[in-house]
This record gives sequence, C-alpha cells and structure tokens, in this order.
Amino acid sequence: MDTQQLVRTFNTLFQPEHDVRTFFAPGRINLIGEHTDYNGGYVFPASISFGTYAVAAPRDDRKVRLYSINFEDLGIITVDLDDLSYNKADNWANYPKGMIQAFIDEGFAIEHGFDILFYGNIPNGAGLSSSASIELVTGVVLASLYHLEIDRIRMVQLGQQVENKYIGVNSGIMDQFAIGMGKKDHAILLDCHTLDYQYAPVELGDYVIAIINTNKRRELADSKYNERRSECDSALRDLQTQLPIESLGEMSIAMFEEYKGLIKDDIHVKRAKHAVYENQRTKDALARLKEGDLVRFGALLNQSHLSLQHDYQVTGIELDTLAEASWAQPGVLGARMTGAGFGGCAIALVEKDKLPTFKENVTRIYTDKIGYAPTFYEATIGDGAKELNE
Ligand code: GLA
Repeated sequence: MDTQQLVRTFNTLFQPEHDVRTFFAPGRINLIGEHTDYNGGYVFPASISFGTYAVAAPRDDRKVRLYSINFEDLGIITVDLDDLSYNKADNWANYPKGMIQAFIDEGFAIEHGFDILFYGNIPNGAGLSSSASIELVTGVVLASLYHLEIDRIRMVQLGQQVENKYIGVNSGIMDQFAIGMGKKDHAILLDCHTLDYQYAPVELGDYVIAIINTNKRRELADSKYNERRSECDSALRDLQTQLPIESLGEMSIAMFEEYKGLIKDDIHVKRAKHAVYENQRTKDALARLKEGDLVRFGALLNQSHLSLQHDYQVTGIELDTLAEASWAQPGVLGARMTGAGFGGCAIALVEKDKLPTFKENVTRIYTDKIGYAPTFYEATIGDGAKELNE
C-alpha cells in the first residue's frame, strides 16, 4: 500500500476539513547488545525500512478518531482529549492514546483533536518493535500538527514511559531510541546509562542482513521479560553490598569474574554474566565493524546467541533452530536472535550470492523440526521517524 492510497482511504473515512499530512516511523533490528539496555549497557540497533505509516489531519473539536488498516474489524476508535486513560477495549489505540497523554503531561498544548489513520507493514508479532514504531509515529504527528518544539531524545523517552507506565511493560530504551534516532545505512551504538550515542556506517560489501521470522506466537513474552529484569536487579543488589556500582553495565569482565561470588543465586549469576559479557561484545562489535572485519563481527553475533541461549535463556527451540541452521550454511558469517527473544526474529549475515540456497536450506531444516516455515525479509536500514511530505 503506498501513501497515496493511504491518503485516499483516510479521506474517505474521515472527510477532513484541514490539511492532511503523512508520516512514517520504522521498526528496528538489534545487531548486538541484547538485554543490556535496562542493565545500563550498550546496544547496537538500526531502524529498518519496514514500519508504521500515519496519515493525520487536525479537527476543530476535542475528539481524536483513530483507525488502523491492520485492525479493520475494530473500526474507528473515538476518544476525547479530556479522557485518554488506558482502556482495554481500545486495544492497539492505547499506544497512540498513551503518547498523546504523555505529551499533555509534559506540558505541551494540545487543545484540539485530530483524525489519524495507521498502517503498519512490520510483520505482526515479529519482535521488530511495532509498538515503539506506533508510539514514535504518533510523536512526530503531534510535533507537526501542533508545531511543538520537542527534543527528539525527549520524544524517545516519552515513548518508553508510555510502554512502562501506561501499557505496563518494563522495557528499556533501545526500541524507541533506534526508531526515533535512526539514520539511513547506519546502526547506533548507544550507551543506555548516559544516552551518549554514535552512528556507525553499516557497510557490508557482498553481504546482507537477512531477517528471519520464527512465526512463533510470542506468548508469555512480557512476563518472562519482566522476570529477567528482576533477576538482573537482584544480582545487582548482591554486588552492591561490596561494590559502588549503579548498573551491571559498569562492570568489566575482569571485575565480574572477581566479584561474581557475591551473587547468591546461581541462576542470577548466569543472567548477570550474560549482561556483562554481552556489553563487552557490543563494544567489540562496533570496533570490528569500523575495521570492516565482518568475519569477527559475525563471530560476536554467534557468541551473543549462545549466551542468550544458555545463560540468559530467552531463545527457545525456534530461535535456536534458526541460528543453528544458519550457522551451518555456506556464506554465513554470523546469526543470532534479535530483540526480546521467546520467538520473534533472528538475523543472519549472509553472502548475497548464497541467499537463495540459504533460504531454501534454512526453511527445510526449520520446517522439519518445528512443523511450519519461517519467513525471510531483507533488512535495509532506513531513517528514523519523520514526516513524509515535508
Ligand atoms: C525488547 C525491549 C528492549 C530490549 C530488548 C532486549 O525489545 O523493548 O528494551 O530490552 O527487548 O534487548
């Protein structure tokens, strides 16, 4: 569906009386640095060409009317600026509602309503951050319709707040940051403790990043996610009995190995070990990418997956099968799960010429073992959230 079709659908549905504008926010992949963001460590994500489109126009009253082509049967959802509280019945529309509320709470003047249509082409439930994409596209819509001067990183933080406080998922800042701050053909090395960041060109030569969807339904993902967070918090508290640290992200590998005995629970030792080692791998990955050493970059991806599989235990048979099947293919430099885990997607660094055989073989191995096929997408790295008709 192109933007002209989206505008036509918008016009038919809403019969706008004011200027109609179009917007886009990407989804994201994370190259490496998984489950490190809420541990105060580094992440290395990139925004992708799949994402969420929005078409919007202001209204004169205080109504907000929302419609998603992805949830046609839910129809137009109408809310009032005077009551944007979370309502289960509003389903997906709680994400934009939460974002509008966050802007109002931040002191921005949003004095009249608007009509908005969404269309997302991020595969559903794929773990490529469709929710952060909806939050950030709403953010750029608000900034544009109401002429707001809002710092982009503040917008990113508001998106995370919506997730944490309004929706109730304790996620870190990575997804919103990648989507709000994305840059074409670049990945972002972000220090989640300080929010210092740098862009790194992703120049892969003869290689491409394949995104492979397990097509597994992500059940229990949120409760398991919150469980991992609290296991890390507990490990941190044990370490803090003797160490003046605020997050696991401050620990070097040497420091961790010296003091890990302070952590009382063996499972928590494994969780913290992942966070500390993954943090180092993420810094190393930036260095390898800058040197153009894709072989060693790929090896770090593999180590990351193994650590998420054995120490952090967030992979599951579907993601493990994808990673292992990928590793066995010619022309593959590395592969790992990306995002929260428990289903969702894996990424693989694959030689362009070998891509057809890669897909064929991985599909066969995965289908034999899991009982249904994976889906492949090629990742191109696009810009962060923005207005399209500027
Ligand atoms: C999800 C969360 C992120 C991050 C990843 C794991 O995508 O939203 O904040 O924690 O999982 O790296």
